[in-house]
Amino acid sequence: SCRQLSSGQTNIDHIKRVGVIGSGQMGLGIAYVAANVTQLPVVLMDISKDQTDRGLAFMNKLLEKDVAKNKITADHANKVRELVSTTNSLQTLDQMDIVIEAASENLNIKSKIFSDLDQICKSDCILASNTSSISITKIGAATKRAENVIGMHFMNPVPVMKLVELIPGLATSPEIVDQTKALATAMGKTTTVVKDIPGFVANRLLMPYINEAVMLLESEFASAEDIDTTMKLGTNMPMGPLTLADFIGLDTCLSIMKVLHENTGDSKYRPSVLLQKYVDAGWVGKKAGRGIYTY
Ligand code: CAA
Repeated sequence: SCRQLSSGQTNIDHIKRVGVIGSGQMGLGIAYVAANVTQLPVVLMDISKDQTDRGLAFMNKLLEKDVAKNKITADHANKVRELVSTTNSLQTLDQMDIVIEAASENLNIKSKIFSDLDQICKSDCILASNTSSISITKIGAATKRAENVIGMHFMNPVPVMKLVELIPGLATSPEIVDQTKALATAMGKTTTVVKDIPGFVANRLLMPYINEAVMLLESEFASAEDIDTTMKLGTNMPMGPLTLADFIGLDTCLSIMKVLHENTGDSKYRPSVLLQKYVDAGWVGKKAGRGIYTY
């Protein structure tokens, strides 16, 4: 059973194996950091071998870049490669001490995964979700152990961004918060704790800002370049809001705005009509080669 940790401790003795679900940008980044920084064995799960192979190929690129920059040795890179194994079956995650889910941002998909994990995982396994907008309380309700379910919200790109938002759901136990915090700290991240509200804190602030930038564009009050330059050079943002929107994905931005709008009923979160149009057109940002900008 779980050892109890008091707040602030960074002991991760109770976490010996990490499972990660989803080998996309976020899942791969989480697996990579867990193996590279924490040096824990990681099992990366996705539904097809194609997907996990793509994840491994991306991890190799990250490792080669770090070796080329003398950030890590070739030996260390090989150790990371050995630490990360892949699977296409959830069943393989039965011995994990924590499973971090980074699958599609869809309540039905996540509920199914968590209800399966509830059947498969050890009773003291932490069940964490990297959701950016779905209620942790809802995800927890898909299991019979909501006290072990927590939001662990990493930011993109995971290897670079220092923040992890921790979101306890209504039933989450304080021990699970402490243990998850210890792991995030061991991964080199700084944590914040946020209640289970729509958008948590990061997206509650960021998405209305991005949405407002798209509304300025929609009204033709300024060009996309001038909107971005204003925030980049005027407030030292690393990227302007429209470049950032393309980077995150306009589909993701729109879906989070809808969550804010629908769950609060507050008209101040109304998604921009132009944002919806771009998504309808399939112009969802950098990953599609076209969004606000063309790539
Ligand atoms: N994966 C891994 N590493 C990456 C990366 C990626 N996808 N993209 C960039 N990097 C690394 C680079 O390799 C580089 O590493 P080194 O220091 O070892 O050289 C470092 O990041 C800096 O990259 P660059 O020099 O190429 O470019 P930059 O200085 O312009 O930084 C950036 C790029 C870090 C992405 C920066 O532009 C930035 O911070 N942008 C804002 C990102 C942001 O706000 N993210 C949060 C999005 S919201 C979110 O994630 C929450 C949600 O739920 C939607």
